[in-house]
Amino acid sequence: MSKVKNPKLAKQGKTAYEWARTHMDILDNTLNRLKKSKPLKGVTVAFCLHITKETSVLVMGAKELGANVAVCGGNPLTTQDHIAAFLATQGIHIYAWNGQTNKEYDWCIEQVLNHKPSLICDDGADMNVKVHFDKKFKSLKVLGSTEETTAGVTRVRAMEKQGKLKYPVIIVNDADTKHMFDNRYGTGQSTIDGYLRAMGLLFTSKKIVVVGYGWVGRGVAERSRGMGGKVIVTEVDPVKALEAHMDGFDVMPMSQAAKIGQIFITTTGMTSVIRKEHLLAMKDGAVVGNVGHFDVEIDTKFLLEKSKSVREVRPSLDECILRNGKKIYLIGKGRLANLVAAEGHPPEVMAQSFSNQILSLLYILKNHEKMGTKTMIVPKEIDRQIAVDALKAMNVKIDTLTKEQRKYAESW
Ligand SMILES: NC(=O)c1ccc[n+]([C@@H]2O[C@H](COP(=O)([O-])OP(=O)(O)OC[C@H]3O[C@@H](n4cnc5c(N)ncnc54)[C@H](O)[C@@H]3O)[C@@H](O)[C@H]2O)c1
Repeated sequence: MSKVKNPKLAKQGKTAYEWARTHMDILDNTLNRLKKSKPLKGVTVAFCLHITKETSVLVMGAKELGANVAVCGGNPLTTQDHIAAFLATQGIHIYAWNGQTNKEYDWCIEQVLNHKPSLICDDGADMNVKVHFDKKFKSLKVLGSTEETTAGVTRVRAMEKQGKLKYPVIIVNDADTKHMFDNRYGTGQSTIDGYLRAMGLLFTSKKIVVVGYGWVGRGVAERSRGMGGKVIVTEVDPVKALEAHMDGFDVMPMSQAAKIGQIFITTTGMTSVIRKEHLLAMKDGAVVGNVGHFDVEIDTKFLLEKSKSVREVRPSLDECILRNGKKIYLIGKGRLANLVAAEGHPPEVMAQSFSNQILSLLYILKNHEKMGTKTMIVPKEIDRQIAVDALKAMNVKIDTLTKEQRKYAESW
């Protein structure tokens, strides 16, 4: 069973899937190694992820390992319809299309849960929150879940802290081979891609305000500088602010940055970081957008509902004329600009993240009974092996410690 926007796009989706797969060697090798033994045979796996060409490789991989697969999007605006159409032709239950209302998005998650998954691969924790707090799914027996992103980790850890977690969750985001690469380089590149596609304007010489200097913020700030932007960072964490300052960026509060920035990129995972007072203070023509997981970072309600007028001037770009007469441009309604206006992360990076996903799902299947109802990080041996595989795929060779060096490292 499936519900997608346009089944006729399946052929285009297949080509995109094939292109991604040829650039995801690490994941492809892992899948090829495991697929003979069909370790997921008879297991229903639910995926709640942005439906991109890279995700199609993960989902197809789970099927190759024997799973019964049910999928929905991880956000109302990030599904790529040709990918969804392709997956629907592959015996995968998929409920996803681009441009959903929040209600439709919620409905799709419920359709996936109606397949009674034993394992969940979540991105942002919307599916896990539903399993835990929606009475309809009270009797669902889930063995465990994985969580892909920082925003979802915050929610799952809050559930754990309050003693609400019903099954183990592996925090894939916290694997070194995930956040150091996906959050930094993946979002770094795809954010520039999204902003350029949405605006079609020159980056170089512009004052770019990057809000937050965590893993995503660092990548976005570095890539914005690489494009010739004059980058300003805002932060609330003194250590991160110091790091940004020493990395050579201007650091200042948002009240000050709002007045001089021309392009704003929020990357915090925090709510209300660009508020009404900041929007009112901005220069005429400023462009604002977000790449944090949820659309809570910018006061989009003020922009979209309280402006004098709002019109779409380019795909994924709304011109909002404020009551003070200034024009502010909003990318992708404040949702993940790198996925709404572009295609999300490149396949090479997602191969690392999704290798962590597949190996973590298999780990849960084997070990769930002794994992307890808590979160855990990806086992170090999995994380390390993915780094080894990634280096191999990129044809990079490294040294190993000699016997003497190992002894030296252990001596006092
Ligand atoms: N767009 C994507 O494809 C993508 C990919 C990975 C992660 N994410 C999302 O991006 C967000 C950030 O992830 P991360 O891994 O960088 O998290 P992180 O915790 O490493 O970084 C967030 C940073 O924001 C700062 N911050 C918090 N409130 C702030 C405020 N009011 N003003 C300025 N700075 C503030 C924090 O101090 C922290 O340094 C999350 O929502 C995550 O889920 C998106």
